[in-house]
Amino acid sequence: ANPSLLILPGDGIGPEVMEEVKRVIAWFGDKRSLAFDVSEDLVGGAAYDAHGTPLHDDTMARALQADAVLLGAVGGPKYDDLDFSVKPERGLLRLRKEMDLFSNLRPAQCFDALADFSSLKKDLVAGLDIMIVRELTSGVYFGEPRGIFEEGNERVGINTQRYTESEIDRVARSAFELARRRSNKVCSMEKANVMESGILWREVVQKVHDEDYPDVELSHMYADNGAMQLVRAPKQFDVILTDNLFGDILSDCAAMLTGSLGMLPSASLGAPAANGRPKALYEPVHGSAPDITGQAKANPIACILSFAMALRYSFDQGDEAARLEAAIETVLANGARTADLMGEEGGTPISTTEMGDEILKAL
Ligand code: NAI
Ligand code: MG
Repeated sequence: ANPSLLILPGDGIGPEVMEEVKRVIAWFGDKRSLAFDVSEDLVGGAAYDAHGTPLHDDTMARALQADAVLLGAVGGPKYDDLDFSVKPERGLLRLRKEMDLFSNLRPAQCFDALADFSSLKKDLVAGLDIMIVRELTSGVYFGEPRGIFEEGNERVGINTQRYTESEIDRVARSAFELARRRSNKVCSMEKANVMESGILWREVVQKVHDEDYPDVELSHMYADNGAMQLVRAPKQFDVILTDNLFGDILSDCAAMLTGSLGMLPSASLGAPAANGRPKALYEPVHGSAPDITGQAKANPIACILSFAMALRYSFDQGDEAARLEAAIETVLANGARTADLMGEEGGTPISTTEMGDEILKAL
């Protein structure tokens, strides 16, 4: 049987960029004999409109069955006043939680043709290719106790940074596995100087390394220094391993090294299933972009690169993923730009579909 792919276009520009991804997927089926059983369903506001819930139980079940899930984006002003329990992002959170996607992969990769577009000097980012592995299901965003409590005559807001050894162990393994497929280098970031969870984090990462990944080059860095180094000399890094909170901040920081939100893919991986494939959700980093929805302005590259990540991490098709990335590099080098990629110099932007056309041509 062909590997299965569940597509959840979602809201706003989600369906617009996903249209281009579907053409790319069809191309791989036609020209590379790489066929997928593709099915499609609703998530977010679109699911709420149809079913009164941002993720129907049937959709959840299909996501758990699929070899990989590809999601566009969720949310939009139409849904801003909904009750918290049925907000579009709850659909996404439920997917992450029930699929137990503990390892979030956020690449920061600089396409040469866009090096001028970075917020840093060109020579600092040209050729940049780093991957941030962020723990996604634990840490201070989930730890108990949490809440706002009365204490004496004032209130206190409490969150708890909490990590178990097994939570650190499994995300560390995913970073080391990843490093072996790249330049074999991991830098783990925490604050072991001031946090107990940081001390345990460093200890467990070192232990996993020494026992099972001694061939990978491992270093440790305090996360605040890491933020500084990311901006000062980002090319020193290959894989950065970090917790949920630091990963949230460091990955947004790294993202801006490379330019537009319209270029940034992500993967969220869980434990390997019986067939060896990890539970996996691929999605662009950007949201539903209501300000440009329906105007054919959305850049489909982030979502197409998310499919490239699926080829690499779910389907073991690294060469085909590289083929797709090279086609995107070619298109950018030829000067094709959606509006979000236009700098001060100006020029005429192309539409979402035209960008898809160019990429298919380059393929
Ligand atoms: P956003 O990422 O949707 O947009 C931020 C800015 O970047 C906008 O000016 C937008 O036009 C631009 N942009 C984003 N993606 C682009 C693309 N592919 N091509 C060209 N330009 C692009 O973030 P914002 O505006 O904060 O949120 C809008 C909605 O999306 C909200 O409802 C929010 O909750 C939701 N959201 C959903 C996410 C998801 O589905 N994972 C992530 C972030 C936000
Ligand atoms: Mg963030």
